[in-house]
Amino acid sequence: MKNIAFPLVALLLPALGTLCPQSGFCSAGPKHPAPAATASVAHPNAQLTGKELDHKVEALLSQMTLAEKAGQLNQFTAGVATGPGTHRENYDLMIEKGELGSLLNVTDAATSNHYQHIAVEKSRLHIPLLFGLDVVHGDRTTFPVPLGMAATFDPALVEQTARVAAAESRADGVNWVFSPMVDIARDARWGRIIEGAGEDPYLGSAMARAYVKGYQGNDLSAPDAVAACVKHFAAYGAPVAGRDYNAVDMSEISLRQVYLPTYKAAIDAGAATVMSSFNSLNGVPASANPFTLTQVLRKEWGFDGLVVSDYGAISELLNHAIAADGPTAARKALTAGVDMDMEGDLYLTRIPALVDSGQLPLAVVDEAVRRILRVKFAMGLFDHPYAPDHAKPYEATREKRALARKAAEESLVLLRNEAVQGSGPLLPLRAGKTVAVIGPLADSHPDMLGSWAALGDEKDTVTLREALSSRLPPGAVTYAKGTEVLGTSDAGFAEAVDAAKKSDVTVIALGESRDDTGEASSKTHLDLPGNQEQLLEAVAATGKPVVLVVFSGRPLAIPWAAEHVPAIVAAWFPGIEAGPALVSNLFGDTNFTGKLPVEFPVSVGQEPLYYAQLPTGRPAGNADLSHPPTNAEEKYLSRYIDEGNAPVYPFGWGLSYARFSYGPLSVKHTMGTSQDVGKIEVGVDVKNTGSVAGTETVQLYVRDMVASVEQPLRELKGFQQISLAPSEQKHLTFTLGFDDLAFYNVDLKRVVEPGTFKVWVGGSSAATDEGEFTVLQ
Ligand code: NOJ
Repeated sequence: MKNIAFPLVALLLPALGTLCPQSGFCSAGPKHPAPAATASVAHPNAQLTGKELDHKVEALLSQMTLAEKAGQLNQFTAGVATGPGTHRENYDLMIEKGELGSLLNVTDAATSNHYQHIAVEKSRLHIPLLFGLDVVHGDRTTFPVPLGMAATFDPALVEQTARVAAAESRADGVNWVFSPMVDIARDARWGRIIEGAGEDPYLGSAMARAYVKGYQGNDLSAPDAVAACVKHFAAYGAPVAGRDYNAVDMSEISLRQVYLPTYKAAIDAGAATVMSSFNSLNGVPASANPFTLTQVLRKEWGFDGLVVSDYGAISELLNHAIAADGPTAARKALTAGVDMDMEGDLYLTRIPALVDSGQLPLAVVDEAVRRILRVKFAMGLFDHPYAPDHAKPYEATREKRALARKAAEESLVLLRNEAVQGSGPLLPLRAGKTVAVIGPLADSHPDMLGSWAALGDEKDTVTLREALSSRLPPGAVTYAKGTEVLGTSDAGFAEAVDAAKKSDVTVIALGESRDDTGEASSKTHLDLPGNQEQLLEAVAATGKPVVLVVFSGRPLAIPWAAEHVPAIVAAWFPGIEAGPALVSNLFGDTNFTGKLPVEFPVSVGQEPLYYAQLPTGRPAGNADLSHPPTNAEEKYLSRYIDEGNAPVYPFGWGLSYARFSYGPLSVKHTMGTSQDVGKIEVGVDVKNTGSVAGTETVQLYVRDMVASVEQPLRELKGFQQISLAPSEQKHLTFTLGFDDLAFYNVDLKRVVEPGTFKVWVGGSSAATDEGEFTVLQ
């Protein structure tokens, strides 16, 4: 997270857990043992429902005054602001008066306990507070940014990192994390593409489930579990022109088919809370949108948890101009289904009068309070409200660093690895060579953390330069920064060129700074920022072999490098183990396994760019889409005249030091009518034809060849990771069912229509091994 700092005053009250007898709701210390394995809960909302829970909620609700009810519906920021806020800070008094249900941005146990003691001991009904924080890719132990985690295609690994984040958050007094961010993002201009899993709903859903399971475990009330918050509901990742906070306008078919499945996956995995987004959706702001918040979320999906608005989103309804005044904004948001007002002031100040004047039914307020209390009870906060008072200072243990290292290694994507000077591929680097390490990101500790790094500390990070220097003998590494991330001066170029000339190989670390991505960081240019492209070209002109490592929170347009630089790695922001992970993969101690969760464009003009395109009446057919059309080619096609349609690197792309070959597909189809599609089994042999062991993410794509509503040219419907020794071959089977073939028709019914389907299996969305099957009437 940008700008998060420890509060200056950390008031530590003595542990008074047993001295709050009035309500019988609080007692000292955690009672629950650590959860076992993190299998998914039986029913999505099982932990938020049940007679006993309802009974507790109703008993408490019946004691509450209207002011206390309105109080529960508010969340204010008690740390560094993460948006424009209300500037309230008299929280001790507000909590005592029952005017707060939650605080956000508290980052340490002592401060959290201070406020919690007031809530539990001094407020009339002793209702504990929720403490929320943007723990997005780790709390203190910083893992790769979510886009990098998505590149691992490894949900089990994601779950493990979220487990660590949950336990650390809880020790820091945070019991609610504003994660996962599951917004599908197909436009690299949008800076928040870094926070999610990229462009694809199937991959995004797998990641969404993994985060929720990791944060919440099996038991929301466990002392190392936190409530997950699925955000930003809904379709926040598709703003017009890629500009943050901008309007979203899309068909309901696209909304349901592409954008909603990831939120649904998180809800089905048991997520306790949801955050409503800033954007409007087809003209109705998402934070006052009865269709998404009530019809879809509550009625269709059966969500029983609480919905919090995004930061100030309820007050912003005035800017959206769907409310002329604060009371109307508050009424519209609450009635639509937003239970808690984040940093807004409107619920607190307007709801009692709205109820008293008859403009807002009390039942609507009660329902919102119920949802909040339900989460608090389910989390066991009435029984164990506090963080451990004497938390040990943070220690980046061997296990945590090993997990961060594994996650970083798996997140790295090898985009290109060509032969140089008549020898084999440039990577892996061979021992005994001298290395020039160049570029503004080669030795930048803070940038390794990425945006929204919560309590991440740059002191924990190891850079590429440091890791190379410890790997190679003294004197073998020469460092030159060359330029700044946003540099305009070429004063450092000569030193960089000189370092490259004197070394056997150059590793150049270019890209974005951590502040170039994340919230409010949309861009109109996707090239390497500043004069980094010129630095790259100057270094490449030495004729020495160059490995380009691109750090970024979004796909960048690097077409020149893709043609002229022999080896390229997409590194995202890898977290505390950035340097060691890179060095390990670059030298082949570990192999590259990462795959792109988003396409890399040739140029910003292609955005939004994604593989699952719909057909067009004038497809470019067999034309070479990697270039603009030539005069000899047909003109009236769906193409740009100044650039190709194709990305530089497609979705799912990523190389390995191993080589994988795919045998022909076998497609077995038992049954197969549109009502009961039965089971379609797609089998394939995958062989490692290379000379080193490797892990491949085998991907399966489907196309419905003719349907009543246009269907994408390809859609990911399965992936499996397979590790193979040299010459080893394994058989893989994918099973497809109704959910994999269904789409929303014009009546918004989810159907499978009879007809032919094609399938492809391979190592990226450009897979060529093809099979087909037919679904009968
Ligand atoms: C605004 C962001 O959109 C959201 O993702 C975040 O959780 C809140 N601020 C709280 O910091």
